[in-house]
Order: sequence, then C-alpha cells, then structure tokens
Amino acid sequence: MYRYDDYDQQLVDERVKQYADQTRRYLAGELTEEEYLPLRLQNGLYVQKQAPMLRVAIPYGNLRSDQVRMFAHIARTYDKGYGHFSTRQNIQFNWPKIEDTPKILADLASVQMHAIQTSGNCIRNTTSDPFAGVAADELIDPRPWCELIRQWSTFHPEFAYLPRKFKMAVNGAKEDRAIIRCHDIGLEVRQNETGELGFRVFVGGGLGRTPMVGKEITDFIPWQHLLTYLEAILRVYNRFGRRDNKYKARIKILVQALGIDAFREQVEAEWVHLKDGPATLTQEEVDRVAACFVDPDYENLPAIDEGFIAKQAESVPFAKWVERNVRGHKRPGYASAVISLKKTGVPPGDITDAQLDLVADWADRYSFGEVRSTHEQNLVLADVKQSNLFALWEELRAHGLATPNFGLLTDMICCPGGDFCNLANAKSIPIAEAVQQRFDDLDYLHDIGELELNISGCMNACGHHHVGHIGILGVDKNGEEWYQITIGGRQGNEAGIGKVIGRSFAAADVPDVIEKLVATYIDNRHEGERFIDTVHRVGQDPFKARVYGEQQNERKVVNG
Ligand code: HEM
Ligand code: SF4
Repeated sequence: MYRYDDYDQQLVDERVKQYADQTRRYLAGELTEEEYLPLRLQNGLYVQKQAPMLRVAIPYGNLRSDQVRMFAHIARTYDKGYGHFSTRQNIQFNWPKIEDTPKILADLASVQMHAIQTSGNCIRNTTSDPFAGVAADELIDPRPWCELIRQWSTFHPEFAYLPRKFKMAVNGAKEDRAIIRCHDIGLEVRQNETGELGFRVFVGGGLGRTPMVGKEITDFIPWQHLLTYLEAILRVYNRFGRRDNKYKARIKILVQALGIDAFREQVEAEWVHLKDGPATLTQEEVDRVAACFVDPDYENLPAIDEGFIAKQAESVPFAKWVERNVRGHKRPGYASAVISLKKTGVPPGDITDAQLDLVADWADRYSFGEVRSTHEQNLVLADVKQSNLFALWEELRAHGLATPNFGLLTDMICCPGGDFCNLANAKSIPIAEAVQQRFDDLDYLHDIGELELNISGCMNACGHHHVGHIGILGVDKNGEEWYQITIGGRQGNEAGIGKVIGRSFAAADVPDVIEKLVATYIDNRHEGERFIDTVHRVGQDPFKARVYGEQQNERKVVNG
C-alpha cells in the first residue's frame, strides 16, 4: 500500500493546523456560519439532521490495520461507538462534535489519513475494484493509477471549484467491479494489440438526478498521457459545465448537451495544449508509485488446501459462508474473504468500534495487515490462506460478521436516508431492515440467488438505486414518505439504469412488493438464471401484473 512521503505528510499536517484555527475562530464567534461553511466542507464536515457528519477519505478503498484501529478509536472517543462505510468506499462518522473535529483530523493525520476533498465541488476519492491486485480475472492492477490520480488531483488548484463534484473510478479486471460507467470519468486499464498499456475512458456517467451511463470518449489513451488527458476533460468541463443550475452542473449534462463526438473534439483541442507537457507521466514516476503495490510475501501453497475442503464437508454453515463470501484469488492456496456488514437489524455499512478493532486484528493475523472497503458497504480481507479460512470464519461468526449473504438480496446497499440526511425524502434504513427481516431465511435467500437491492432516500441516489436489480427510492408525496420501485438496473460491464414499475408504495407495503417481485422471478426463471437476466428476458409486465394485480387490469380496461 502507498505510504506517505514527507510532502504528503506535511500537506496533511498543515491542513490540520489551518482547520483547527478556523474552527477555533468559528467557535469564538470570529467567523460567521457562512464563512465557516466552505472551510468545514473542504475538510469533510457536513452539518446534518442530528449532528455534524465527518466523511473520511479511503483512497480506492485500501486500508492498513493501524488505520482501521484509528477508526475504532474515533468511533469510541468522539462518536457513538460506530462508523458507517459508504458507497464511495469512504467511512462516515455520524455524531462528532464540531469542537472535536480538529482532534479527529489530527488523529487521522497520524495514520496518514484525512477528509480533504471528501466534499465540495472538487475531484473526490477515486474508487476502484475492492479485489484489485488479487482478483483472478485481473489484467492490470488499477491501484497505482488510482494513486497517481490521487496525488495529481489532491489540491489541484485549477480543479478546486468545479461546477459540481467530480467522481472517478478505475478498473483493471475483465469484470467491472468499480462501476466505472456510472462515474464522471471511468477508466479501464488495458493493453492494446501491441501490448502497450493505456486506458479506455468513459465520460459523463453518474447517478443522482438524471442518471446516465458514461460514453466512451476514447478506447485507448497511452499511459504516459493519462493525467494530461484527464486534465483536458476537466478543463472542458470547468469551462463549459453549467454553473447557473446545480441540477444541471454535472459533466453528464454537458456531455449529453454537446453529444459525445462534439465533446471529444473539445477535449482533443484542449489536449493539444497539454499533451507532452510537464504532467506527462514518466516510467520513473509510475515505478515510484507502483513499487507501493508489490505483492505481499505470499507462500508457495498447493492450489487446494485439503483441510479447507474437509471443513466445508463437516460444517454446512461454513460451506455456505465459503460459497457466498469467499472468492478465488490469483495465487494458489489463497482466497479473499468478504466481511458482510449486512446482518439483519444493523444498518447496511455500519460497524462498531469493537468490530473495527477485531477487523484490524484479523487483518494482521490473516491478511498481511490490509483491509479493503467496498462500494457495496462491506469489507474484504483480500489475502487469506485457505487453511486459515475456517478459523477466521469462527471468529467472524462470534462477532456477527459472518452473514453468508454477499451478493444476495439482504446484502443491500442503503444510504443513511431520513434518519440522518437533511436531503432525504424518506427513511431508508428501516426499509432495509424490514426487507432483511422478511428474507431472513437463509435457505430461501440462497435459492433466490444473486440479487442486488439498492435503496436511496432521495433522488441523489447515494444508495445507487438506479443500478440495483431492484431499486427503492424514497419520494415525498404531500409530506408523506413513499417508495418508488425500479427493476432491471445493473452495474458491471453491462451497466444500465432500472425502470420504474409504476406508482409508489407506503413503507409498510415494501416487503410485500419485494416478495412479489421475487416470486415472479421464481415462477419465470430458467434453470440457473439470475433475477436480472429474467427481468431482461421477460420484461416488466409479469412483474407489474403480480405487484399491481387487479388494479393494473382495471386500469387497462378503463384505458381501453
Ligand atoms: C451528508 C450526507 C450526504 C449528503 C448531503 C449527500 C449529498 C449528495 C448529493 C446532493 C448527491 C447528488 C449529486 C449530483 O447529482 O450532483 C449525491 C450523490 C451521491 N452520493 Fe451522497 N450525500 C450524502 C451521503 C452519502 C452517503 C452516505 C453515500 C454512500 C452511502 C453517498 C454516496 C453518493 C453517491 C454514490 C452518489 C451518486 C453518484 C453520483 O453522483 O453520480 N452520499 N449525494
Ligand atoms: S440519497 Fe438522498 S437521502 Fe440518501 S444520503 Fe443521499 S442525499 Fe441523503
């Protein structure tokens, strides 16, 4: 993992000092609310419904155990004993006191962490595949490229006040696990026919209001030009992106308005001024960063550990957990274990201070001291020996972290919604819980198979509802909370936006509706077919008919 050099550390330390003084002056009444607002936002501090909320950056979701321990310390000392992993691989603390935030940022800086650029109209944390560097289907490790982007974009003076926030993601595997097509810029690391390394670039994707899948702006940009090309895209956006209307300010709106071809022309014209300039990457620079992402000290192990196989035969619950939460690894004898933060009754993504400490210990004992956070609000120990999986599972189970539901219906994404967020139209967490309770039967859950359920409390789509196989969106109708359902959305290589099935529902009806959608799938599915594939094969009608029943028929008759 990347370790700060003196420059990184100095930047972060100086920022902590500045912020401490700004906060002191605000609390002393020397700065107005208005003056303090941009200062706190630049340091990840929102003021939300109940309390301030601090968002801490986790670069491309990679964490060291000492950093995880620091989260535990922060949750315990300054918060209510838990933290919340978000869909942007970051962690959020929901209850810090403003006067404590300088201390929190100082604590974070001591383990090379910060909250810089986690808010505001700047380049946000670059996200990536949580299995980067270990996935069997990986072609090129995306992390050095994420890190180069991090270093280039942090405090980039030209891009501190963009028309709107800006999100990038990088993928280097066959399967896109970073949803690159739903980001402002999505990058796929690839090789061309001659073996040269470079990037396929998507631009103008994004969820929120007006969700869109990104368009390909180039199928190959050689690696040397990555940063100058990104710079050209950002310049075009900075200049022509709309600043008059924040709902139309994202790059997706500009790309849509111009059309991808005209947008590309603009970028190419701008690139002429930048190409081969000082931001051109050199081999030396790439090697400097790539050296931080060398393989850990793997042992030479047989491909299959006999003890691991035997344990699965002995213990059905262990076998179930392995089936769902353990993934293959590029190295023989190793595996990646997903730690599910989706136990029924716990808000998706929430983790306690004690659990964080345990995760850090397990990372040290079983996974070279590293942890990953995922955009699906889970954690991953990426490098576990097969022979250690049973011991790890027993420990996870003892602490409520072994729910074998990775990729299943109850492994849902859910934003904080009306319980915490000022912008919410409706609550999300109680909906997640009601659905989890309804589908608490593990056998049934496993029979349903892969199904992504995503919940957002408003159209900002922090819970990714558009790309869920089933999406739930909180809507406000005359001051009451209602829920609109979409089906057919997906992430990955075939990312697409789901379609609304019809009028919305009261909270109490949501579990029934989900049950009816699942039942329709079960009635219609072909052998081995996933929910999403059935939806795309049979279309929405059978699902609508089941959910709306008689009412839909009546309406059809009325309409003639
Ligand atoms: C303080 C609480 C939060 C506020 C005020 C907030 C605000 C917003 C807003 C206004 C948007 C729409 C942006 C646009 O379309 O221009 C948005 C989008 C988004 N937020 Fe949040 N958010 C919050 C918490 C979260 C959390 C907890 C997560 C993760 C669980 C998250 C992840 C995202 C994602 C993934 C998107 C949509 C992706 C995209 O912009 O293309 N946010 N948020
Ligand atoms: S989707 Fe809406 S309710 Fe949920 S966290 Fe985002 S802004 Fe808040």
